[in-house]
Amino acid sequence: MQFRTRAIHVGQEADPSSGAVVPPIHLASTFVLPAAEGPADYDYARTGSPTRHAFEAVMTSLDGGARAIAFASGMAATHCVTMLLKPGDHLVTGTDIYGGSWRLFNDVLSHRGISVSAVDTTDLAAVQDAIRAETKMLWIEPTGNPLLSVTDIGGCAEIAKAAGVLLVADNTLATPVLCRPLEMGADIVMHSATKFIGGHSDLLGGVLVARDSEVGEKLHWMQNATGAVMGPLESFLCCRGVKTLELRVHAQSATAMRLASWLQKQQSVKRVYYPGLEDDLGFATAKKQYQGGYGAMVSFEVDADVNGAQRFVESTKLFQLAVSLGAVESLIELPAVMSHGAYAPEARRAVGITDGLIRLSVGLEGAEDLEHDLSLAMTKI
Ligand SMILES: Cc1ncc(COP(=O)(O)O)c(C=O)c1O
Repeated sequence: MQFRTRAIHVGQEADPSSGAVVPPIHLASTFVLPAAEGPADYDYARTGSPTRHAFEAVMTSLDGGARAIAFASGMAATHCVTMLLKPGDHLVTGTDIYGGSWRLFNDVLSHRGISVSAVDTTDLAAVQDAIRAETKMLWIEPTGNPLLSVTDIGGCAEIAKAAGVLLVADNTLATPVLCRPLEMGADIVMHSATKFIGGHSDLLGGVLVARDSEVGEKLHWMQNATGAVMGPLESFLCCRGVKTLELRVHAQSATAMRLASWLQKQQSVKRVYYPGLEDDLGFATAKKQYQGGYGAMVSFEVDADVNGAQRFVESTKLFQLAVSLGAVESLIELPAVMSHGAYAPEARRAVGITDGLIRLSVGLEGAEDLEHDLSLAMTKI
């Protein structure tokens, strides 16, 4: 079946007790067992629950994996993956990654005796050089955040496979609509479901999808042992969100493409980062590994000091000043002090997140209205 058909039907069978077309929200924390010992579909909701299962089933299908596991947030999902690592192990990560992941890797894992190297993962030679005998995991964001750099998933998969290293892709920005890392050799894909999957700024969630069932089983064991599961209401909302995921991502990406081209022509804009622009550093890789668009995020640097950039982001009306991304409403933010405030200032500047960098999450509003909103704010720089 086609992607959008699976998004609507997999895991979403009509409720057998009532015939309801939409599966109900099961709030039960515990389930009656047929016998004291022996198999049961459900026993306790931390281990598994029907509404969460429905969401996990559809995500397994959309990402083309063996098993999906849904979490209370994207960071809970990321944390669960890192719990596969032991003291003495080494993690290689990209530099253009979400600030919260950066904080987890550098300020939490390092205290557990796990060493971390950050490299530009768009440079496969640098990735290869960073791999050591004790490296156990390579963490990439195929579309980086906030510079929207594009990492070659297949290239990283070859390096990871040869070294016996797990390749994990945080695919939050690209979504399974534009790109499916498991099909390109990644072992685990992670999404912050808070973003495009939920799609309406009204839930926190995360999901891991494993390519093989053994890795999926280990992750599920770890989740059950530690407890950060997705709740029933969020699972229901995620099931609803994925039904329109393809339509939303395609429409939002088309508007983002238009705004990126328009921004390039503006005098007060120094540089635009968008992988769909032909002169973008990531264009060739993006063209190869993405289908149906280049994403709904656009970053750009304004020709102004930090105060000018701040006035700009505080002046838009439709683009609301807020962190997060991927929802139907457009958002604007300053990564240096907002989404990537967890970086030390030197580390932040070293990876290219300048004080004047602005990040847009393009929503579903009309493209002309959004362009007009940005052009009015530009007069405030
Ligand atoms: C790329 C990316 N990964 C992971 C996360 C963390 O997800 P959550 O906020 O759901 O914990 C975010 C949140 O902004 C993100 O943008």
